[in-house]
Amino acid sequence: MIIGVPKEIKTNEDRVALTPAGAFELVKRGHTVYIQKSAGEGSGFPDAEYQSTGAKITKDIESTYKKAEMIIKVKEPIKKEYKLIRENQLVFTYFHFASYKPLTQAMIKSKAICLAYETVQLPDRSLPLLVPMSEVAGRMAIQQGAKYLEKPVKGRGVLLGGVPGVPQGKVMILGGGIVGTQAAKMAAGLGAQVTILDIDLARLRHLADVMPANVTTLYSNEFTIRRLIKDHDLIVGAVLIPGAKAPNLITREMLKEMQPGTVLVDVAVDQGGCIETCKPTTHTKPTYIIDDIVHYCVANMPGAVPYTSTLALTNATLPYAIQLADKGWKKACEDNEPLKKGLNIVHGKVVYKGVADAFGMKYQEVDSIL
Ligand SMILES: NC(=O)c1ccc[n+]([C@@H]2O[C@H](COP(=O)([O-])OP(=O)(O)OC[C@H]3O[C@@H](n4cnc5c(N)ncnc54)[C@H](O)[C@@H]3O)[C@@H](O)[C@H]2O)c1
Repeated sequence: MIIGVPKEIKTNEDRVALTPAGAFELVKRGHTVYIQKSAGEGSGFPDAEYQSTGAKITKDIESTYKKAEMIIKVKEPIKKEYKLIRENQLVFTYFHFASYKPLTQAMIKSKAICLAYETVQLPDRSLPLLVPMSEVAGRMAIQQGAKYLEKPVKGRGVLLGGVPGVPQGKVMILGGGIVGTQAAKMAAGLGAQVTILDIDLARLRHLADVMPANVTTLYSNEFTIRRLIKDHDLIVGAVLIPGAKAPNLITREMLKEMQPGTVLVDVAVDQGGCIETCKPTTHTKPTYIIDDIVHYCVANMPGAVPYTSTLALTNATLPYAIQLADKGWKKACEDNEPLKKGLNIVHGKVVYKGVADAFGMKYQEVDSIL
C-alpha cells in the first residue's frame, strides 16, 4: 500500500503520526511510505532518519495527500486539508467528529474512509488510542503543578517532596482513572502526600492495592472535597463521565476556602473541566489566577512534549496501521472488531452512531458497508 504522512499544520502541533521505527516496519513489509518534508522535525526525527529506512520524502502537503492510498495523521484535518482528501482514500487519525460539524460534512462530501483513533475500542470498552495521551497528561499534570507551585509564578512556594525536617506538599487528585493514576504515581514518586478520590469503589480498591504508602484513596463526595481543599497545595482534575460534560466538583465559591497560591490543574478541561472556574488555556499562556488560586487548564497537554507523545501514540497506532496496510481497510476491519469501531464515515455515509446522533444525520450500520 502507498502510505502518506503529512506534516501537522494545526497550531502548536509538533507530533507526527509515524516514527522512523514505524516507517521501517511498513517498508520492510513491502509498503511505500511517503513522509512530508520536515514532518518529524518537531518530534526530533529528521528527514534523513526516515530516508534511512527506505521511506521517501515529499516536498509538500499536496503531493503527500495525492500519492497516498492511506493517510496517517495525528490531529483532525483542518479546512486547508479538506480538499486534499479524496474518494476511497483511507484517513487514520484523531477526528473528534461529534465536536465539529464542518469537518463531518467535509468528510461526508469527500467520500473517503475515515477511521478515527478515538473510537477504536477494545472489548473491555477501553480506548487504546486515547490511553497513551491520558498517560502523558497525567504525568505532566504533576510536573506542571510542581512548577506553578513556585513563588515567582504566584504559587504557594511549596516544594512537593519537602526536605528532611519539613513536611512534604499535599496533592489531591479528583478521578483515579488513567490520568489520575499516572498523576498519583508521579506525585508519590516526588515524595508528596497524595490523596486520590473516585466514585468507583472497584477502582479505589485496585489503587489502594498497587499505590505506595504515601497515597491514600478516598470516596469522592462534596463533603470530603470541601474538607481537603483547605490544606492541599496541588489539586488535579481528572474525572471523566463518558459522553458528558465533566461535573463541577470544585465550585467558584470553594476557591475562597483554599490557601492562596494553591495550584489547580484541570486535565478534564477538554470535557468542560471539573473546576467551575476552568477555561481552556494554551501552552503559550498556560495559567491564570482567580482569587489568588493558580489555574492551569491546557487543553492539549501532550503537545508540549512531542517527542514522548509521538512515541507513546505511535506505539499504540502502529499495530493497527500495519493491519490496515497489509490487508486493506475492509479486511482489516472485518478481522479486527476494535479497529472496526474506529470507522466513522465511509464513502459519504455516517457509520458511527454517536456522530450521526450529534448532528441528527442519517446513520448506517457499519456491517452494511463491509
Ligand atoms: N488536557 C489534556 O491534554 C488531556 C489529555 C488527555 C486526557 N484528558 C482528559 O482527562 C480526563 C480524564 O481522562 P482519563 O483517561 O483518566 O479517564 P478515565 O475514564 O480513565 O478516568 C476517569 C475517572 O473519573 C472518575 N469519576 C467520575 N466521576 C467522578 C467524581 N464525581 N469524583 C471522582 N471521580 C470521578 C471515574 O470513576 C474514572 O475512574 C478526560 O476528560 C480526558 O478527556 C485531557
